[in-house]
Amino acid sequence: MCGIIGFTGQTEAAPILLEGLRRLEYRGYDSSGVVIGNGTKLTMRKKAGRIAELTKHLAASPAPGTCGISHTRWATHGPATDANAHPHFDTDGNVAVVHNGVIENYMALKQTMQEAGTEFRSDTDTEVLAHLIGRYYQDDLLSAVKAALAHVKGTYGIAVVCRREPGVIVGARLGSPLVIGIGPDGHYLASDANALAGYATQVVYLNDRQICQLDAESWVIRNQDLDTVDSPLQDIGQFLGIGDAELNGYPHFMLKEIYEQPETIANAMRGRLDDGDATAHFGGLNLDIKQLRSIDRVLMTACGTSYHAGMVGEYLFEELARMPVEVEYASELRYRNPPIDRHTIVLAITQSGETADTLAALRESKRMGHTTLAICNVVGSSIAREAEGGVYLHAGPEIGVASTKAFTSQSVTLAMLALYFGRMRHLSHAQGTEIIRELRRLPEVVRETLRCHDRVKEIARKYAHASSMLFLGRQYLYPVALEGALKLKEISYLHAEGYPAAEMKHGPIALVDADTPSVFLVPRGNVFDKVMSNMQEIKARGGPVIAVCSPNDRDVASLADDVIPVPDVPEYLQPIVVSIPLQLLAYEIALVRGCDVDKPRNLAKSVTVE
Ligand code: AGP
Repeated sequence: MCGIIGFTGQTEAAPILLEGLRRLEYRGYDSSGVVIGNGTKLTMRKKAGRIAELTKHLAASPAPGTCGISHTRWATHGPATDANAHPHFDTDGNVAVVHNGVIENYMALKQTMQEAGTEFRSDTDTEVLAHLIGRYYQDDLLSAVKAALAHVKGTYGIAVVCRREPGVIVGARLGSPLVIGIGPDGHYLASDANALAGYATQVVYLNDRQICQLDAESWVIRNQDLDTVDSPLQDIGQFLGIGDAELNGYPHFMLKEIYEQPETIANAMRGRLDDGDATAHFGGLNLDIKQLRSIDRVLMTACGTSYHAGMVGEYLFEELARMPVEVEYASELRYRNPPIDRHTIVLAITQSGETADTLAALRESKRMGHTTLAICNVVGSSIAREAEGGVYLHAGPEIGVASTKAFTSQSVTLAMLALYFGRMRHLSHAQGTEIIRELRRLPEVVRETLRCHDRVKEIARKYAHASSMLFLGRQYLYPVALEGALKLKEISYLHAEGYPAAEMKHGPIALVDADTPSVFLVPRGNVFDKVMSNMQEIKARGGPVIAVCSPNDRDVASLADDVIPVPDVPEYLQPIVVSIPLQLLAYEIALVRGCDVDKPRNLAKSVTVE
């Protein structure tokens, strides 16, 4: 995904755009650029590399003016170069565009234009749109944008300026988020409300196929027929979560978000645990008790870390609610078209609420008439608005590309949902009360778990240059094994695999050697002895073993090379506790390997393209 921010008002645009880009940099960071108008001309500055490069460039070559648009890129077409950075101009230099999304038919459009003599300066799909708008432009930018978009297949969130219409910004959205900001100094257009904190006081979200026009004094949203749309203004405060999008003294957002987890887990539960009825309550499910009681199966869909949380949810719903659950990668579900009966509910799990595959799977499920819910962290995001109901995580902005606090908040939320459904079925009041007691302990238990950090730091130094790493767990800890491997891969670039511990015998154990440590997730529980046997099998082949285990577990300590004790909790809450040392392990290994923890190569915070 990419980050977009535009401003038109009474003050110089450059500092506002740069600050907005800095806040959006987690959305994509291989290049960035601005174009700013001063009433007579448009000045563009753009650079490959981080926002800091653009900041230096602008300091050396200022771009004056009070109306501009800007972009931070996660490359979809063409490498990260100055030429491929956004904005992109049309041939006459009259129209400039920044774009988040993918124009799927750009090659055909480009070929047609090249045959007609248009010269292209970049490899991007976005430049095609700039030329199209330039071709349609006569005297009204909004009409030219609408005409150009009629040729486009794919997804877009765009901002457009025009030399001949000083002070005007046009925006349009299909599949990639856009929000208008209203503030004392002017009007804003951004891909994420967090970029507008401190500038805008109110926001209004665009829906798909809507187009908008802003200038210093006014703004308007129109539908496909260019009729004015009366969209409600909302206070920006509700879209900015706890722990603003600042480091607050931490070296990295990822570390800050790992240490926020006692608070974010408490926030996920705040006001939702009902001691009287020994159940949980949610204000936004938007389904009545009869509709909820008629559900007899859950289909969860997500990507990445959120998919792993869904796998935890599968074990939780099966144990606490005795409900069959299927968890599907959203990128598979959107095209698989599985038989889903009318008593199945589709539950999308997503931190950003903008992941393209998850949004598409949700829309396909709705199109088929299924009831859809979402667990989401970003208020007002596309998935949060398009699901029929859902539960917000209230975890605050998650800026680090590697998802941490969202995973534990998703897992807690799924535990509460499983309790809620379970108490509608077979869970007794006493059982519900016990589950609530254990949930209420979690923030303190997580705070205690974070004390393993120094031990993890030592282990990270010991194994940071391993050739590969295996993560092994059973039952509730199998999804955590996958999550631990993903965390390590995505921020330290060290290859890692997660497996159900017993699965090692069916081939992967061939990977085991002195340079391939195995991380075993082996706190006391029903399958403890089985996992200990798997550890023996690895040790017998000379593989180093790191064990996340219960406190003072002598059996484990006698076998493992390194141990990371974590507090004991019931097995259905172990995913939340055990995932924390794995987050820290990935973080510390990435530091030893000199990787950019918050902005790992090739990645972006939310994947809003297929
Ligand atoms: C997790 O660390 C990754 N950043 C990635 O797998 C992420 O979980 C995935 O892209 C899904 O994002 P979402 O939760 O915002 O939908």
